[in-house]
Amino acid sequence: MNKRSDAPVGVFDSGLGGLTVMREIVRQIPDERIVYFGDTARVPYGSKSRATIIHYTEQILNFLKTKEVKAIVVACNTVSAYALEAVKDRVDVPIIGVVKPGARVAAVSTKNHKVGVIGTEATVDSGLYSEYIRHLNPKAEVFSKACPLFVPLVEEGWWHDEITTSVTERYMKELKEAGVDTLIMGCTHYPLLRSTLREVMGPEVNLVNPAYETAVELRRTLEWRDLLREEDGSEKCDRYRFYVSDASERFGRFAQSVLGFDVPAAEKINIEEF
Ligand code: DGL
Repeated sequence: MNKRSDAPVGVFDSGLGGLTVMREIVRQIPDERIVYFGDTARVPYGSKSRATIIHYTEQILNFLKTKEVKAIVVACNTVSAYALEAVKDRVDVPIIGVVKPGARVAAVSTKNHKVGVIGTEATVDSGLYSEYIRHLNPKAEVFSKACPLFVPLVEEGWWHDEITTSVTERYMKELKEAGVDTLIMGCTHYPLLRSTLREVMGPEVNLVNPAYETAVELRRTLEWRDLLREEDGSEKCDRYRFYVSDASERFGRFAQSVLGFDVPAAEKINIEEF
């Protein structure tokens, strides 16, 4: 194995949600080493301005550079929608966001050309999902809905709860009335509400998790550059490193429940230094 392919992939999010993207990467390319950063001190990004999100993203990229990552996955819809275009030239490794892969799969899989997008206020305001979907499928009508209460409900652990169901019913009302046949879970927290969304939207609506396509794209990118890491028999916990900007114990518990295996303790860093 060449030295470069042994380098880790950097994955980052505004906090915990990006772990759903990491889970998909681990499932599809389990031999990769991963450095995960969660900006737990400054979450949520979804209600912040574009300038602030770009500034935070630049600091995180500077941090990931110090870890000599071979590729970066922006495991946050808000950053992918608001900051990726502005910062992508600041790194000299491939950088992959979650919006394009998610939009691509929705654009080609909708049958009635009515696509719903749910996400944070920033993601919805950016209009980027609609733009990509319509570019790939000019017949598509896109119905977007910001669901700001979902992030705190997920972080509270209320993944299956009657309060979450009634919030979901209220948020989904107009998307159901619009008759969408495809719904993009355009925020990294939302796949954890998949069963509630399924119950509320009904079995016929296709729920798109952009994390799946993002992991496919990462695999393809690494393969194409001859950067895929080979199996070396190491333990899972030796392959993954977690860094956060605050509350590392809480992060550890959450990471364990999302990833489903024992994770090494997260190290708290001062992201403002980068
Ligand atoms: N991770 C963010 C996203 O995917 C949601 C949380 C936040 O607002 O920072 O958009």
